[in-house]
Amino acid sequence: MNILILGSGGRESAFAWKLSQSPKCESLFIAPGNAGTGQYGTNVDIKVTDFAAIKQFVLANNINMVLVGPEEPLVKGVHDFFLADDEIKHIPVIGPQAEGAQLEGSKDFSKQFMQRHNVPTAASRTFTRETLQEGLEFLPTIGLPVVLKADGLAAGKGVLICLTLEEAQLELTEMLTNAKFGEASSKVVIEQFLQGIELSVFVLTDGNSYKVLPSAKDYKRIGEGDTGLNTGGMGSVSPVPFADEEFLKKVEERIIIPTVEGLKQDNIPYKGFIFIGLMNCGGDPYVIEYNCRMGDPETESVLPRIESDLVDLLEGVAEGTLIDKQFTISNKVAATIVCVAGGYPGEYLKDKTITGIENIRDSIVFHAGTTAVGEDVRTAGGRVLAITTLQDNLFDALQQATADASRIYYDGVYFRKDIGFDLV
Ligand code: AMP
Ligand code: GLY
Repeated sequence: MNILILGSGGRESAFAWKLSQSPKCESLFIAPGNAGTGQYGTNVDIKVTDFAAIKQFVLANNINMVLVGPEEPLVKGVHDFFLADDEIKHIPVIGPQAEGAQLEGSKDFSKQFMQRHNVPTAASRTFTRETLQEGLEFLPTIGLPVVLKADGLAAGKGVLICLTLEEAQLELTEMLTNAKFGEASSKVVIEQFLQGIELSVFVLTDGNSYKVLPSAKDYKRIGEGDTGLNTGGMGSVSPVPFADEEFLKKVEERIIIPTVEGLKQDNIPYKGFIFIGLMNCGGDPYVIEYNCRMGDPETESVLPRIESDLVDLLEGVAEGTLIDKQFTISNKVAATIVCVAGGYPGEYLKDKTITGIENIRDSIVFHAGTTAVGEDVRTAGGRVLAITTLQDNLFDALQQATADASRIYYDGVYFRKDIGFDLV
């Protein structure tokens, strides 16, 4: 089958790497891809939100399946666009329609969904500009710290954790009346702070049955010891040692089953990945957020541990036969370290020549923000490369990934040397 992947980051590189290994994959295309995805397929210069160009390409190249990497095209309705068009509606799109993508696209929608289906999550209420006064009155009742979340997509920046009531009042007012996060903060969710350790669980569903993919933990802060600004993710490990069988059983019974069943009850068709961000609060899982896609850099740790043929699994999603698909996960441990551009997550250096990739010993190099300029591979984004290794235990995986990341050089290269060591 001929497959088109939409996206250009480390996540899409990992998808391309995995799909290209399948005997069922004839031609693989990545739009727009990066300097690394060209190893696994053909890059196509189309933006992920240019639905008309995607349609043309899909028809011209006899594409049999479209796998959507990032949330933006899903929230904007790429799947609905296919279903509404007689020429392409038979081509399966992996990723939910716009309504299901609201699980990520609207925090208010996802909180209401969780409340309706008894999925454990932090207590919360939603306010708008019109109900600002009520919001200000609600704030002192929820305890400190308090979490404020812009309702809509805000490029990972829409969540504020306020330590004082004064700060929370000021920020709530800024978000609602001065559009601090633009249209995304025209509604704000005020949420109770959950104390615990974060991890993520990933589910692949055809809308009826599901497979629970390996768990992963991502490291969001730029600095070692989890300090400094938030980033898209500086590294990940899979599995997560504290997510033992007992904990994962709770996650499945209390969260995954009610989520998949809840979508069915609400008549929300959903074919794709559900990324469940969790807080482990003293052994009990609570949902922090849903995403309608895989995580980045979690995908880079999760996919190498899946032994089954991913094309076969995605076919199961498309055809509604996921329940019949065999699914096996490796016992090995994956560690991923992200090399970022100097200055990231602020203003960062670009267009720097990358060297040393050929010196990597025992890791897979997933390109993220890279571009090919003649023979050169240059940096072209904040997160540049994701280095993933698979080893027998966590300590060896972390050491190997760190050693391999240090073999990469470009002007301004930075990576965290402490990823995962808190879990050893
Ligand atoms: P989100 O965009 O919802 O994933 O939030 C971004 C980050 O804020 C999460 O990864 C958590 O670290 C933190 N966060 C969000 N909600 C809560 C909460 N209710 N309690 C504690 N931390 C939270
Ligand atoms: N690594 C977090 C995310 O993909 O949203």
